[in-house]
Amino acid sequence: MGNITKGQVHFLLLKFHSLTGLVPIGLFLTIHLLVNSLRTVGVLPYQLSIDVINNLPFLFTIEVLFIYIPLLFHSIVGFYITQVAKMNVLRYRYPRNWMYVLQRLTGALVFVFLIYHMGTTVVPKLWYGHELFEAAPFLIDVMNREFATWTGRIIYMIGILSATFHFANGLWAFCISWGIIVGPRAQRNAGIVFMLFGAVLTFLGLATVLEFSLDPVNVKPTVMGAA
Ligand code: HEM
Repeated sequence: MGNITKGQVHFLLLKFHSLTGLVPIGLFLTIHLLVNSLRTVGVLPYQLSIDVINNLPFLFTIEVLFIYIPLLFHSIVGFYITQVAKMNVLRYRYPRNWMYVLQRLTGALVFVFLIYHMGTTVVPKLWYGHELFEAAPFLIDVMNREFATWTGRIIYMIGILSATFHFANGLWAFCISWGIIVGPRAQRNAGIVFMLFGAVLTFLGLATVLEFSLDPVNVKPTVMGAA
């Protein structure tokens, strides 16, 4: 085995960056928005889903390995790519160039949104030791308060729209970068399919925001004194 060149490291970094955007991060986003949309069915299904997640064995290890580390890696490499990339959108006003700029912009917005979102949910949950069945009443109360003001609703709408656009457009870029979709016609059609997928995810997220805003309900722990 010969020495690995700087170019090869760069290439591997880009490939791994694109892969982590799909699995586990994109997969997490899809499941997260789907699980949260259970709130539109009723507060009990939503509470039970939070109970299931917060009673998983090795939850913190799973979250660190499959959410926090990949997110941190994807964000750091994403900012690095943005730094070294040539922003030629002002010279060549092609739609693809605009998508390229939007991909970077939404990535940065999601990063800022996540600092806020995790700072108001997971961090206080862990800090105040709301574990097992105590987590759901705490988190549902937090979300009710988040969606009680227009500031909170707008922050979440921006976070959801940025995350779903970033993921849908990123899926398209992933398929091209990994040689899965080759011809220009196939690339155009795939772009339409991925944008429709992004629209469905956006609908789930915005429906959840609407439900929380219109009907804030607090709950008691499903199993009393279990924590
Ligand atoms: C309607 C919109 C949303 C709602 C109601 C919501 C709700 C929540 C709640 C309650 C938690 C805490 C989960 C727990 O500790 O058991 C959480 C965590 C999290 N959310 Fe969201 N979220 C929303 C949108 C988003 C979006 C758009 C993203 C991605 C950009 C996102 C990414 C995350 C991440 C990374 C965590 C930490 C993961 C974990 O520790 O389980 N969320 N969210």
